[in-house]
Amino acid sequence: MARDMTGAAGVNGLSQALVRVEGMTKLFPVGGGLLRGPTGYVHAVDEVDFEILRRETLALVGESGSGKTTVGRLLVKLLEPTEGRILFRGWPEEAGQGVRESGGQSGGMVDTATLKGMDLKGFRRQTQMVFQDPYESMNPRRTVFDTVAEPLNVQGMGTRQQRLGRVSELLGLVGLTPPSAYLFRFPHELSGGQRQRVAIARALVVGPSFVVADEPTSMLDVSIRTGIMTLMQDLSDRLGITYLYVTHDLAVARYMCQRIAVMYSGKIVELGETEELLSHPQHPYTRALLSAVPVPDPEYQREPVDILGEVTAAVDPPDRCRFYDRCPVREDVCRDSPHPLLEEKSPGHTVACYRV
Ligand SMILES: Nc1ncnc2c1ncn2[C@@H]1O[C@H](COP(=O)(O)OP(=O)(O)OP(=O)(O)O)[C@@H](O)[C@H]1O
Ligand code: SF4
Ligand SMILES: [Mg+2]
Repeated sequence: MARDMTGAAGVNGLSQALVRVEGMTKLFPVGGGLLRGPTGYVHAVDEVDFEILRRETLALVGESGSGKTTVGRLLVKLLEPTEGRILFRGWPEEAGQGVRESGGQSGGMVDTATLKGMDLKGFRRQTQMVFQDPYESMNPRRTVFDTVAEPLNVQGMGTRQQRLGRVSELLGLVGLTPPSAYLFRFPHELSGGQRQRVAIARALVVGPSFVVADEPTSMLDVSIRTGIMTLMQDLSDRLGITYLYVTHDLAVARYMCQRIAVMYSGKIVELGETEELLSHPQHPYTRALLSAVPVPDPEYQREPVDILGEVTAAVDPPDRCRFYDRCPVREDVCRDSPHPLLEEKSPGHTVACYRV
C-alpha cells in the first residue's frame, strides 16, 4: 500500500518542491557520421514539466524507451538537458549548508545548470542515483569498502578511519550485518540482493536528500525484491530522502510511491496521487497500461482497453499527440493539433489528452 502524504508535507502542511523541472528536453542525435551531421534526433525527453515534493517518492512509469532513465540521469546531472531548466532547492536544514546565493536562484531554488565549483560539489553530495544493475556501479576488483567509500573519496570527506566508520554505519543501515563480515568482500562474493544493498549504501554514504532509483529491483529475484523496496522506504522515512523511483511496474509504483507520473515517448501524459491515478486513470495510455498489467488488487481490475501497434519511435516525431498512432479513442483533433499540454482535471491530477 502506498504510504500517505504526511511525510511530504512541509511547513504548515504545505508540500514544498525539492525538484522542479520546466520544459526539460533531451535530444540524442541519430545517423550521420564523421563528415555528416545527424540525420535526426531521438526526442528522449520532450518539454517535460513536473515537481518532486520534499520527502515524497514519485514514481516514473512507462514502457521501455519512454525516457525514464534519461529523466533520472538529467535530474542528477549525469546528462545535461538540450533545453529547459532543472531547479533544485538548497539543503540548509539537512546538511547545514546551502547553495550559495550567487547561483541562478528562482523562488529559493537553484538552476542546476548554473552550479559550479563548490556548489556543484554540494549538489553532487545531495543527489545520487541507484542503478538497475548493481554491477554497473561496482568494479569487480574493488571491495565493498572501496565501492561504498568512493563518493567520500571524490568529495574529499574524512580520514580513512572515519570513512571506515561511515561505511560500516551504512552497511548496518542497509542490513549487511555485521559490517565487518562484508567490508572486504568482493562483488562476486555477494548475492544480487546484497550487491544492490551495497549500491544503496554507496548512494547514501554522502548523505543525499534526493535519490533517483532506476528500476533498482528489476534485475533481482522476485523473492528478494520486497526486501529491497522495504529497505528503501525505511531509509526514506528515517533519513528524510526524496526519491524519483523509476519502474515499468505499476504494482511496484503502488507499493512504493505517493504519486505516479506516467511517461510515454518522451512526454509525461498523466500525473497524480497513486490511489487516485490507479482507481481513476484518465489518459488512454494509462488505461491501457492498467488493463494490460492489472495492479494486484481486485478493486482495480477492469476491462481490457485496446492499444494499437508498437511504441511510437521518438525520432523526429510529428507535431501531434505522441500517442495518436496507438490510441483507441483518437479523433481528428488529436492529429491536427500539437501534443496536448498537461492540464489539471481534478485536484492534483493532471492529464495530457484532448479527449479527457
Ligand atoms: N545516449 C543515448 N544516445 C542515443 N539515444 C539514446 C541514448 N540514451 C537513450 N537514448 C534513447 O532515448 C530513448 C529513451 O531511453 P531511456 O533509456 O531513457 O528509456 P527508458 O524509459 O529508461 O527505457 P527502459 O525501460 O528500457 O530502461 C530511447 O529511444 C533510447 O534509445
Ligand atoms: S489526445 Fe487524442 S490521440 Fe492523444 S491520447 Fe488523447 S484521445 Fe488519444
Ligand atoms: Mg531505463
